[in-house]
Amino acid sequence: MRIGILGGTGRMGKGLAKAWAKHGHEILLGSRFPDKAREVAEQIASETGGKVYGTNLQTAAQEGEVVILSLPYRDCANWLKRLSEELRGKIIVDITNPFGAVTEGKTSGVEENAKALEVPANWVAAFKTNFWTTLDEPTNKDGIQRDCFYCGDDFNSKKVVAELISQVGFRPVDCGPLKAARILDLMVLLMIDLDRLFNGKGKCSWKLLD
Ligand SMILES: NC(=O)c1ccc[n+]([C@@H]2O[C@H](COP(=O)([O-])OP(=O)(O)OC[C@H]3O[C@@H](n4cnc5c(N)ncnc54)[C@H](OP(=O)(O)O)[C@@H]3O)[C@@H](O)[C@H]2O)c1
Repeated sequence: MRIGILGGTGRMGKGLAKAWAKHGHEILLGSRFPDKAREVAEQIASETGGKVYGTNLQTAAQEGEVVILSLPYRDCANWLKRLSEELRGKIIVDITNPFGAVTEGKTSGVEENAKALEVPANWVAAFKTNFWTTLDEPTNKDGIQRDCFYCGDDFNSKKVVAELISQVGFRPVDCGPLKAARILDLMVLLMIDLDRLFNGKGKCSWKLLD
């Protein structure tokens, strides 16, 4: 599958690109600075032996069959408006964290991003509750597999994203419709506080036991 990552040169973007390149996906790292993205892509390609390319945000949005939204939340609305035609109808995996920039509990970052896009797309929220430092450590120091909570309204898109989550090495946990992201946004804030409290150094994760 061809995966476009908007913000592909960032910590999350690089970590996800590495994981998916190892599974044979073609990755397009989208950046405001295509030369920088090409450098990063070459490095990941040589590390993983995968197909990773650097490009601008527009091409990553247009060419990606699945597009990962990995920009700072504050910049998303502006870029989504600019890229709306490229993103129309796509599976968009929103990994961004609004950190209180939306009315907590009443809406969510992903719902606001969906409104900003102004055209229909299949939005799935995922990876919000996973620190970047854990992307290459999908099991913790005790060998417990980390969970990745995700949600969305389109069954088939969620199936695709669940498979991508599994390929990172996390257990996908379906949290239901897109509006469940209102809770995921808040879980991020608590996760950061708890990680500090437990001196987790960015390695804490939420785990659902059954
Ligand atoms: N860090 C975590 O542990 C973590 C965990 C879960 C979710 N998230 C979320 O994932 C997203 C990415 O986080 P990150 O830690 O990877 O951030 P990051 O390392 O700062 O990377 C973000 C990328 O966004 C691009 N960017 C920055 N400002 C921009 C702007 N004004 N317009 C367009 N692109 C811009 C930059 O790429 P260029 O300079 O190459 O354009 C940068 O590489 C954020 O929304 C964050 O809340 C982070």
